[in-house]
Amino acid sequence: MSDGERTFVMVKPDGVQRGLIGEIVSRLEGRGLTMAGAKFTQMDDDLAAEHYAEHEDKAFFDDLTDFITSGPVFATVWEGQDATRQVRQMMGATDPAEAAPGTIRGDFGLDLGRNVVHGSDHEDPGANEREIALFFDDDELVGWEQIDEDWLYE
Ligand code: RTP
Ligand code: MG
Repeated sequence: MSDGERTFVMVKPDGVQRGLIGEIVSRLEGRGLTMAGAKFTQMDDDLAAEHYAEHEDKAFFDDLTDFITSGPVFATVWEGQDATRQVRQMMGATDPAEAAPGTIRGDFGLDLGRNVVHGSDHEDPGANEREIALFFDDDELVGWEQIDEDWLYE
């Protein structure tokens, strides 16, 4: 049985522009994760600053927030066993040039500032819940049981 962990995953503006929403959703579904929420939206400056608050002192902060607000994003919540860490593994290293083939960034990216997808940091406790709450109200999330649950988890 799954621990029911939820994590936040966002297709960034480059991933949206390059038509990768379906590919990324398909990979997460195929892995056995369950979608609990989805929102196609454009982030404003305040949301971008809050979402990337941990990086506000870094030299790349302005470029990062300019980029993340530059076009629509596809914000999603996924549920499943150890979901946060598993999604980070599927995303690959932050820099696509270092990301292993088979990961999302390793298969679809080349540049650190255009790395296609965001996922909550599994090494930052509470980051998943914090990010979910930034983008979604409780009543926008759906808890449901997928029919393959008994075939995914012992
Ligand atoms: P993200 O938050 O976007 O999912 O990426 P991440 O956890 O893998 O990496 P993080 O350290 O949180 O960095 C956030 C984003 O900032 C850009 N970055 N630029 N120029 C630089 O040295 C630098 N370092 C990071 C990347 O686009 C990264 O996704
Ligand atoms: Mg991060």
